[in-house]
Amino acid sequence: MTMSKVYRVGVIGCGGIANGKHLPALSRQDKVQVVAFCDIIKERAEAAAEQYGSAEAAVYTDYRELLKDASIDIVHVLTPNDAHAEISIAGLEAGKHVMCEKPMAKTAADAKRMAEAAKRTGKKLTIGYDNRFRQDSLYLKKVCEAGELGHIYYAKAHAIRRRAVPTWGVFLDEEKQGGGPLIDIGTHALDLTLWMMDNYKPKVVLGTKYHELSQKEDAANAWGPWDPKKFTVEDSAFGMIVMENGATITLEASWALNSLDVDEAKCSLSGTEAGADMKDGLRINGEKHSKLYTNKIELGAGGVAFYDGKEEKATDIELRKWLEAIEEDKDPVVTPEQAYVVSRILEAIYESARTGKAVYLD
Ligand SMILES: NC(=O)c1ccc[n+]([C@@H]2O[C@H](COP(=O)([O-])OP(=O)(O)OC[C@H]3O[C@@H](n4cnc5c(N)ncnc54)[C@H](O)[C@@H]3O)[C@@H](O)[C@H]2O)c1
Repeated sequence: MTMSKVYRVGVIGCGGIANGKHLPALSRQDKVQVVAFCDIIKERAEAAAEQYGSAEAAVYTDYRELLKDASIDIVHVLTPNDAHAEISIAGLEAGKHVMCEKPMAKTAADAKRMAEAAKRTGKKLTIGYDNRFRQDSLYLKKVCEAGELGHIYYAKAHAIRRRAVPTWGVFLDEEKQGGGPLIDIGTHALDLTLWMMDNYKPKVVLGTKYHELSQKEDAANAWGPWDPKKFTVEDSAFGMIVMENGATITLEASWALNSLDVDEAKCSLSGTEAGADMKDGLRINGEKHSKLYTNKIELGAGGVAFYDGKEEKATDIELRKWLEAIEEDKDPVVTPEQAYVVSRILEAIYESARTGKAVYLD
């Protein structure tokens, strides 16, 4: 594919994910130029502009000022969850294509407004579900699309950490984030699962959530101990989702759980023809000639001692596909409608956890 244009990109929010994912990926892609950097903390925008900006890069502390620059084609919205909807909708209305980080929004109503804004403005909107672009995910998607698993009637979405609570930024703040591990990492696992099943019609949701380990002092945590008083989001949440076609999904999400079974951003699928999981590499399981089999997929190049293939990073594939969607005027891989269903299910799990009742979605 040949791209005709160098896209001018503005980045809004210059924190962890901007510096860890978007800016490095954008800097490796020669069809874009990052020309504007915005953060409410000016030094962060300045530091990012210095490291990743073009010579003429502009720095802002108010995203509305950035959006006034008519020469910007694309904005990446990389702020905490509570600002995703407002900034993304304003970006679309200012005539920009918008890549917004996951989860789509703090609430399903906001996510819906974002999807509507994309339709109304005719601009593209996508959400940063980058786990879809891992080699194992891309391969499993092909397996599913080829019908090799048959009808998938049971799936598990895994987002379990033993002790890895994000203690920077506002991740523990219910008001800013809308929730804890469920909306933070459960969202990746659920997105991956629904995408593999190609099933976006949930019928009923039952959920629970817990504030248990979050209340302990001096925890052994990957990112240092947390303050229990400030830990207002759940530490764990679990859901059961029954789809319109009868399929069942269980979703498990935790930042801190007494469990040796830890898997994040993964799914396990059970279909009428075969099953698949990502627990020990990508494995396909089934029955053939009256015996069970387990096939492990070799995702490396194989066979050469000193060279295991030149693998494009998931985040680079995500960006490349995003630019292709814009260039070729086609749907992005992650559509707003799909991301909205993820948000809706997560919200229903929270609602069910609060009320103790199942939530019927229509
Ligand atoms: N794809 C992934 O796997 C992944 C991983 C981590 C984070 N994320 C998502 O990225 C988002 C940001 O997370 P993070 O870890 O970078 O957080 P962070 O706190 O490190 O960075 C957020 C930045 O946004 C800035 N900001 C806040 N409100 C703003 C506003 N109104 N305008 C401009 N800047 C504003 C903050 O000052 C901060 O610098 C979250 O939604 C999170 O869920 C995604």
